Amino acid sequence: MPQATLIDGKAIAAELRVQIALEVAGIKAARGLVPGLHVILVGDDPASRVYVASKEKLATEVGMNSVAHRLPADTSQGELLAKLAQLNADDSVDGILVQLPLPKHIDTGAIIDAIDPAKDVDGLHPINAGRLASGKASGEHLLVPCTPLGSMLLLRHALPSLSGLEAVVIGRSELVGRPVAQLLLQADCTVTIAHSRTKDLALVVRRADIVVAAVGRPGFVKGDWIKPGATVIDVGINRLPDGKLTGDVAFAEAVEVAGAITPVPGGVGPMTIACLLRNTLTAFKARRG
Ligand code: GUN
Repeated sequence: MPQATLIDGKAIAAELRVQIALEVAGIKAARGLVPGLHVILVGDDPASRVYVASKEKLATEVGMNSVAHRLPADTSQGELLAKLAQLNADDSVDGILVQLPLPKHIDTGAIIDAIDPAKDVDGLHPINAGRLASGKASGEHLLVPCTPLGSMLLLRHALPSLSGLEAVVIGRSELVGRPVAQLLLQADCTVTIAHSRTKDLALVVRRADIVVAAVGRPGFVKGDWIKPGATVIDVGINRLPDGKLTGDVAFAEAVEVAGAITPVPGGVGPMTIACLLRNTLTAFKARRG
C-alpha cells in the first residue's frame, strides 16, 4: 500500500500569508489605510502567551497594524467590557480577538457577545455563528472560525471536489467541530458529527471519504478506522509528556491507509493564524471596503 500524500499546511499557510501581504500592501499604496488586528490576552496562561505572540508577529509580517493588549489575570469583567467598547468604537480597528480560555471569574459568553460582529475575526459571536449555521451568508462577508476555515482550505487543496463526499467530523466543540461541520455542509458534503457518545465510532468513521478529527486526545483515531484512500484532517495539537506535539490521529497507522493526511505539527496548526489574518482582511473589506 502506498503512503498517503502529506498535506503541507506549513507551505500552504505561508503562501496564503504572501497573498495577504500583497493585498495589504496594495490597500496601503492605493488608499493609505492599514488593516488593524487587536488581540486581547487576559492573564498569563503559557500556551496562550505563545499563541498571542505568534498572532502579533505574523500580523506585523503581513503589514497589518498589529496590537496585543496584555491585561493582568485579575482584570475584571467590567474592565474587559470597557476595553472592547473602546476597540468597537475605534474605526482603525478591523479585527478583535479575545484569546481563550479566559480566567474563571470572567463570563466568556458575555465577552464574546460584546465584540462587534463586524470585527469578530474569531467568528464566535452568535450573529456570525448563526449566519454560518443558517447557510444564508455568502463566504465573502462571513467571519468563520479560523481553524475550521483553515481545515477547509487544506481539504480544497487535497481534493478536486468536495461535492457529495461523505464527511465525518469527530468532536462537537464551538471552536472547531460544529463550525467545520457547517462548512462541509455548505461544500455539499454529507456530514456526520460524531462525539464522545457516538456508538460504533470506528464503523461511522470507516464510511468517511473525509475525516476531520477534533477531539483533543492523542492518537485517538486508529489507522484501521480509516477508509482506504480517505482524506484525513487532524486538528488535534496534543503535547506528550516528552514535550513533543502529536495529533488526534494515530499518524503512523493512518498514513498507510489514507489517501492524504495532515501531519502534526505542520498541518492545520499554521493555517489557523493565516486564516485569522485572512478574516482581518475580510472584516476590513466589509467595513471599509
Ligand atoms: N484559544 C485556542 N484556540 C483559540 C481560537 O481559535 N480563538 C481564540 N480566541 N482563542 C483560542
